[in-house]
Amino acid sequence: MNRFDLKEGFLIGTASAATQIEGGTLEHSWMDWYHKGHIADGSSPARTNEHYLRWQEDDALMRDLGFQVARIGVEWARVEPRLGTFDEDAIAHYVAEVELLLTYGIKPLVTLHHFTNPMWFEELGAFENVENLPHFLRFVERMVTAFGARVTEYITINEPNVYAVNGYYSGLWPPGVKSFGRTVRVMSVLTAAHMLAYERIHALQAEMGITETRVSYANHMRAFAPQNPGNPLHRLYAKLSERFFQGALSKTMGTGRFGFPIRNLIGMKPGLYCDFIALNYYTRSTVKNLGDGVRGNAPVNDLGWEIYPQGIVECAQALYHIHPLPIYVTENGTCDNTDAFRCRYLYEHLKAISESTLPFQRYYHWCFIDNFEWLEGESARFGVVHVDYETQVRTVKQSGRFIAAVINEGGVNDALYTQYVAPQQYRTNAKEDG
Ligand code: BGC
Repeated sequence: MNRFDLKEGFLIGTASAATQIEGGTLEHSWMDWYHKGHIADGSSPARTNEHYLRWQEDDALMRDLGFQVARIGVEWARVEPRLGTFDEDAIAHYVAEVELLLTYGIKPLVTLHHFTNPMWFEELGAFENVENLPHFLRFVERMVTAFGARVTEYITINEPNVYAVNGYYSGLWPPGVKSFGRTVRVMSVLTAAHMLAYERIHALQAEMGITETRVSYANHMRAFAPQNPGNPLHRLYAKLSERFFQGALSKTMGTGRFGFPIRNLIGMKPGLYCDFIALNYYTRSTVKNLGDGVRGNAPVNDLGWEIYPQGIVECAQALYHIHPLPIYVTENGTCDNTDAFRCRYLYEHLKAISESTLPFQRYYHWCFIDNFEWLEGESARFGVVHVDYETQVRTVKQSGRFIAAVINEGGVNDALYTQYVAPQQYRTNAKEDG
């Protein structure tokens, strides 16, 4: 059966992050990382798709495509360029964007922290120091107060595991540290940051008389598998990788019960610290040690990541097992530079979601427009809308027309399948397991 219906009440939109789409010369950790020469194609976060200037055009395009929800980000370095100095124009800008989305009938989900720190915060040690948490909370409070009743859904922190592992374990991201101990410390401080922000947002919204508040943090989850299932060591590493990379953190974040190696640095009490499950899912990791790996002969995207649609349900199931809450897929997408297989990718992930018995309620595709992809810069395209970085012209891709049609039809029928999905095939990774 090729056709499927979306679940009842299921809403679809796109996700983005401020640093990856806004542009502008700001003093933040990723601008600094660019200046230090770490972006593969030499592109700078100062350009991206200039969404900060072109937001009205972009949001109108979202409306035209029929998106129902949008996950958008706030750039802390723009809002608070110096410690304690807030830029009221920047705050007003974000409020105006939220208002425009609401006018278009698009419900916003706002991410408060998505990998990037203002330089002043970075220089204070960022999330390595628990003493820095009041700075983050002050920023959270400022934004939540400014948005008022316009925003009732928040992601406090995007992918604390990816931030900690890339920045402090592999050292590939700012600040370029390679230390297991410091990685665990950052994960622990981020856990505290989320829990405190969760409580603060609820308290602020309650003061404003808002009762439908939903707050979570975005889990980056991978499906982990042993490279050789017959090898007990590989199986052990798959388990350990899962626990270290995501399991321990998800459990602690959700329950307030701190599990090794995450430490309770500020005496948080056990309890539920999320109102929905926020799942970012992209790929499966096939491992033979405490590293990353890709299965041989697997369908892969342009960055070599395995395409494994069933993993979206497996990862959601793992989170649902911790706390049975409504599930939002807050990111899912793929690097497909020529839009050659994105329709099939979309189709297979949405089909897996729709056929699952889990309470999936939302799907935010990553990304609306091609964006600055961290270390890959402008060279890795994830959008359903193409941007010509030189002219900044936006062009809806075939996958953009497909996702719009899926929303419109409430699923995929035979005609849509034949037009968009059937002609597309994935490229296979012919390499050995690695
Ligand atoms: C991040 C995004 C990123 C995407 C694709 C996610 O882990 O939240 O910022 O662009 O993956 O790599």
